[in-house]
Amino acid sequence: MSADAAADDYDVVILGGGSGGYACALRSAQLGLRVALVEKGKLGGTCLHVGCIPTKALLHAGEVADMARDGAHFGVHATLESIDMAGVNAYKDSVVSRAHKGLQGLVKAAKIDYVEGSGVLDGPRTVVVGDRRLTGTNVVLATGSYAKSLPGLEIGGRIMTSEQALTLDFVPGRVVVLGGGVIGCEFASVFRSFGSEVTIVEALPRLVAAEDEAISKQLERAFRKRKIVFKTGARFAGATQADDVVTVTLESGESLEADLLLVAVGRGPVTDGLGYEAAGVRLDRGFVPTDERLRTNVEGVYAVGDIVPGLQLAHRGFAQGIFVAEEIAGLSPTVIDETGIPRVTYCDPEVASVGLTEAQAREKHGDIETYEYNLGGNGKSQILATQGFVKLVRRTDGPVVGVHMIGARMGEQIGEAQLIVGWEAHPEDVAGLVHAHPTQNEALGEAHLALAGKPLHAHA
Ligand code: NAI
Repeated sequence: MSADAAADDYDVVILGGGSGGYACALRSAQLGLRVALVEKGKLGGTCLHVGCIPTKALLHAGEVADMARDGAHFGVHATLESIDMAGVNAYKDSVVSRAHKGLQGLVKAAKIDYVEGSGVLDGPRTVVVGDRRLTGTNVVLATGSYAKSLPGLEIGGRIMTSEQALTLDFVPGRVVVLGGGVIGCEFASVFRSFGSEVTIVEALPRLVAAEDEAISKQLERAFRKRKIVFKTGARFAGATQADDVVTVTLESGESLEADLLLVAVGRGPVTDGLGYEAAGVRLDRGFVPTDERLRTNVEGVYAVGDIVPGLQLAHRGFAQGIFVAEEIAGLSPTVIDETGIPRVTYCDPEVASVGLTEAQAREKHGDIETYEYNLGGNGKSQILATQGFVKLVRRTDGPVVGVHMIGARMGEQIGEAQLIVGWEAHPEDVAGLVHAHPTQNEALGEAHLALAGKPLHAHA
């Protein structure tokens, strides 16, 4: 630090301007706190620039391609000429850039002191950025996550993470996707829609292994139909690349050749070299553990978002950021219930879930009932020509504790599902509510009708 560093005092200094950090900044400013928000890259972080928003734009472009390719099913004859990646990227970038400008406007209007540069914690209440020392009564760590790789697997050339895959200027002929989790399945879906031959390599016995087992089975069925190849229970051994090919070997001895290898084996916390430990903040395998009020072990230092162990989701980050701002302002907000956080994987078909899986509910509650409503009984899903189901998990004679859905566009149904689980509704409560016909939302209503013992377009 230079000797003439300017001293700046704030109520809250936030390190990291992604979903968790900027939400905390905006809410803090609303509550009349003096806020500094430090960001070394772009305001909006992973979600806006290299995560949620650009990937969902790619997935939408993929859906448009599938519509053109499959139009004949609906009596609309179209020919899919080509995927122009420059055009796809221009569309994707325009979506990101509009949201980025909007967000910059919000931060400016809120009179948040936005500090560009790489910040480092220097003692519990101070963040140093270049020659500035920002001191805060409270400091919020919100430095996010990075795409991990495996030991000995170097990212570069034809071996990439989602970050590089987002800027491809060509459609690869053959892709191997390492990891059949959320990112792996979403990218496999995009590449397939764009015409690539895709093989997913997943170490666990099933795709999207964190989901209810029935969901994994249905997704695998759907991917098989889409000719997405997947190898589950398959462990990666190594990869080599030449000018025109990457060769992936599995522990079984099998080898796969492709134009590129997408590594999607999880995201790690960005906490290295930021002065956290020196400031006394306890780390656990790189993550920052907190109590339920998001306090670290150091007084006045909070952590939010992907660096806090748990679901690495933007909406969790938003909620945590808002929580911490309100906590600092003395509003004593209600603790966030992590089991009530909705999860959506935007591959085709979409997967959406909230609450406990069947296995988790059985373990936690013992006596449970489940019901699977097939989208075959749902008019709108038939119109969309999609297959899937809504699966409910309830405590016997008690509330619904888990909702698991799969099918095209089913992600949009998560809102009602989370209210049901969050408000501990019984199927009988939901059965009394009229759902609009013909919508996919009706499938949720019908599933609850059936579980309440009065099925309409379903068997009891
Ligand atoms: P993930 O944890 O969902 O999936 C990683 C997968 O890689 C796991 O299934 C794991 O078993 C597998 N794997 C690990 N090592 C392996 C090996 N040696 N060989 C074969 N397979 C191996 O992580 P992912 O997909 O990278 O996503 C990272 C985070 O980002 C997740 O927390 C995810 O929730 C979040 N995210 C959320 C999205 C959404 O909400 N739609 C979209 C994209 C990411």
